[in-house]
Amino acid sequence: MTRDPRYDILFEPVRIGPVTAKNRFFQVPHCNGTGYRYPHTQAAMRGVKAEGGWAVINTEWCSVHPSGDTSPPSSSRLWTEEDVRTNALLTEAVHRHGALAGCELGHPGLASHNLYSRLPPMGPSVRPMPPRDFPGQGRAMDKADIRDLRHWHRRGVRRAIQAGFDLVYVYAGHGMTIFTDFLSPRINQRRDEYGGGIENRARLLREVLEDTKEVAGDKCAVAIRFCVDEQYGGDSINAEDGRAVVEMLAELPDLWDVNVGGVDDMLGSRFRKEGWEEPGIAFVKQVTNKPVVTVGRYTSPDRMVSLIKSGTLDFIGAARPSIADPFLPKKIDEGRLDDIRECIGCNICLASNSMTVPSRCTQNPTMTEEWRRGWHPEEIPAKGSGSRVLVVGGGPAGLETARAAGARGYEVALAEASRDLGGHLNAFARLPNLNEWLRVRDWRTGQIDKMADVTIYRESELGAEHVREFGFEHVLIATGSSWRRDGVGGENFVPIEGHDQSHVQTPDDILAGAEVTSPVVIFDNDSYIMGGALAEKLVAEGHDVTIVTPFPQVSPWTYYTIELAEVQRRLTALGIAIVANYNLASIGENQVDVAGIHGEPAHTLDAATVVLVTMRQSHTGLYDDLVGDQAALEAAGIQSVRAIGDCLVPAQLSEAIFGGHEAARALDGPDVKDQPYRIEQVPASFEPPLPWEEN
Ligand SMILES: Cc1cc2nc3c(=O)[nH]c(=O)nc-3n(C[C@H](O)[C@H](O)[C@H](O)COP(=O)(O)O)c2cc1C
Ligand code: SF4
Repeated sequence: MTRDPRYDILFEPVRIGPVTAKNRFFQVPHCNGTGYRYPHTQAAMRGVKAEGGWAVINTEWCSVHPSGDTSPPSSSRLWTEEDVRTNALLTEAVHRHGALAGCELGHPGLASHNLYSRLPPMGPSVRPMPPRDFPGQGRAMDKADIRDLRHWHRRGVRRAIQAGFDLVYVYAGHGMTIFTDFLSPRINQRRDEYGGGIENRARLLREVLEDTKEVAGDKCAVAIRFCVDEQYGGDSINAEDGRAVVEMLAELPDLWDVNVGGVDDMLGSRFRKEGWEEPGIAFVKQVTNKPVVTVGRYTSPDRMVSLIKSGTLDFIGAARPSIADPFLPKKIDEGRLDDIRECIGCNICLASNSMTVPSRCTQNPTMTEEWRRGWHPEEIPAKGSGSRVLVVGGGPAGLETARAAGARGYEVALAEASRDLGGHLNAFARLPNLNEWLRVRDWRTGQIDKMADVTIYRESELGAEHVREFGFEHVLIATGSSWRRDGVGGENFVPIEGHDQSHVQTPDDILAGAEVTSPVVIFDNDSYIMGGALAEKLVAEGHDVTIVTPFPQVSPWTYYTIELAEVQRRLTALGIAIVANYNLASIGENQVDVAGIHGEPAHTLDAATVVLVTMRQSHTGLYDDLVGDQAALEAAGIQSVRAIGDCLVPAQLSEAIFGGHEAARALDGPDVKDQPYRIEQVPASFEPPLPWEEN
């Protein structure tokens, strides 16, 4: 297939200072949980994106000095000569496919946890450290500190060039860099030439940009990443400050990478939709002659074209769309638009990075598995035999297994009990603002539709006897799970008294349209989305809702997806009452008894409907029946039976997709149980001298 000429404009080369990008697809800096700890994993992941057609591939933020240390998450760094060598793995992988490699040099200032380095965090003024860090404060930098910082940044630029980067950044975005600390009037309370009016607050940024330009010379392009309006209100960096900075520094960098909203720039699809940042950054191209890039979870090529044609942007920036589909540019180039695997905006990539493990992606199960498992997002080994594969259950795990096994060339039958493919996702995506999650289903069904050897049987509930009659050699059971009705979960080890009444519902019941009468009490003992999202849905339908949760906040795990504050804001705005730190003790006819988990006084709440959001139970009946009769399996010629997805263990959607993918790759493969992947570790022989003893 060939490219639609409408998209030609996206494939025009664009000059960035001394270098030229081959097209307009620009992977903006993004962490991925690998960083300095797993440099081979990172290099392979970035290399795959270069192969997928991105013209510019950036690192995540890259620390210039141990005083800017955000461990435990592992990001890039250029602290040592060894770091130069590990970063060179990345630039080589990127250059192999004709892309430019960029390095986002930075210092997180007062956002440095310095948990590893133990150096006192520093910034323009004294500030308390965030509550999850060691209790303490960051110190105010004096002039010697400012000189040191400039020296470290210049050294970082030199090292980046040595490592082979074509572009270096000065990172002043997301409200967590030393430059945003200085720019922000609420943080910067200095009385010297680095504090006060915007010209003074921007002084350090200007100096470092000038330093960077000087060191980079004609060897390397210089970009600035800048948040033009934090939108936090109060004394944050507002639109006026942002515009003033762009006007002041307009022609100094070779490229402007701009966004709005501080860290909200990364919010998921539940809270922000494609292109939401456009109004805030639209002015930038009118103020500078340098190329401009922004972000907005762009997956639609038509929208990309209109952004270029309207003169809003020169490059289409992407973090998550490039994670969900590293081959997005190539697919547009080859006219394969319906093969694009669109990001769903779930922020699991961000969560895993925050949890200090290599980033996983719900849509792309090969993310960060390129090196350690040798997985490629677009290639999969051909089938290992002429065996046939039966997949029972057409939810996310079943769909991914059927798709991946089909891609390997197996003959596959997918049997689904209901009329619809998608399993629990179909109902889940009806919750407010979660409809984009259906992309997980739709991409897979779209791919399967093109496969001649994958047959789908709808409304086909199979028992063990049917499976044996099928006689396919490999059987994968993806029969899913459902929410428990008895209240057993994290807080309650035995059923809650009164759970067996008709007004007690589960999320499955509510999503299937069960009758609801107000007042509603949702008992939310699940740390993720369900409780809060159900409350939103019921309020939208006119109900009066209270959430009782043993956690201090609703949906506490969304801290990692950076949505926690937004969840609380939305629940508060909707007038949903929250009874935090309470367990559900018992359920009566029209009321519930709740008990504080730290001894808070017990009390009673009115409840005409009670919804129990506690834990899920796997549907293992078919699997148990099959593996419970090995002789019958053998007689039917069945060689392997495996439970996948929620049937194996209920977990996040990303794990269902990953498990389904892994199961398809494992068909007729070696037994990898003892060592499932390559381990990246520092060799025992690595023992550099103390830095002051070098030479
Ligand atoms: C997993 C993840 C890690 C990120 N890490 C960084 C980072 O290190 N530096 C940075 O400037 N932005 C970082 N970002 C922000 C992105 O570069 C981007 O601005 C944001 O995700 C919006 O773009 P998108 O909608 O294309 O994802 C990160 C985003 C994600 C999702
Ligand atoms: S994990 Fe979710 S948000 Fe992140 S890239 Fe994948 S689909 Fe998008």
